Amino acid sequence: MAQSAPVLWFTGLSGAGKTTIASEVIHRLQRKGVRAELLDGDEIRSSLSSDLGFSRQDRDLQVQRIGWIANLLSRNNIVVLVSAISPYREARSKALAGLQRGLEIFIDASLETVEKRDTKGLYKKARAGEIKGFTGIDDPYEHPEFPELRINTAEKSLQQSVEEVLTLLVKEGVIESA
Ligand code: ADX
Repeated sequence: MAQSAPVLWFTGLSGAGKTTIASEVIHRLQRKGVRAELLDGDEIRSSLSSDLGFSRQDRDLQVQRIGWIANLLSRNNIVVLVSAISPYREARSKALAGLQRGLEIFIDASLETVEKRDTKGLYKKARAGEIKGFTGIDDPYEHPEFPELRINTAEKSLQQSVEEVLTLLVKEGVIESA
């Protein structure tokens, strides 16, 4: 059987830019005729994982489910972009290890940066105590130790970030040029 397509696993704090970058990469790939799918944490939580909350156990289950779907798609030669906080190193590593070609991408932005952006207004609510156990505030985020790629979105523009991901896909032999 042909080699699986890669799974690009974007991890990072809420508001770091995971989905924004991944969505743009998907567009660029689709324009090149490459089949690609986005598995977005928020979207999956509104459907398949609507039974889950944000305890460690539930987050790990969410990561496990995403890994399972990613595996099905990638072995059918669909490039998968995962966008999920996936805060716990152990569960993330386990999901990645279950993939034939899992590539971890750390979308890095400090708490200060994401809190300033507060795109969904959730950090404000977490600070006010209206949301408990919010990642980065009163719930942990364990960053990757050896990611394939680390993109600091406070330093890089969206276009620069997208180019970095596309360059990785060139290196992986998925596309010929960015
Ligand atoms: S994960 O921790 O299970 O990987 P996932 O990426 O699926 O998280 O979902 C995170 C999204 O859920 C956030 O972007 C935010 O919109 C929403 N959310 C609601 N409550 C929380 C919380 N307590 N911690 C983090 N994100 C939360």
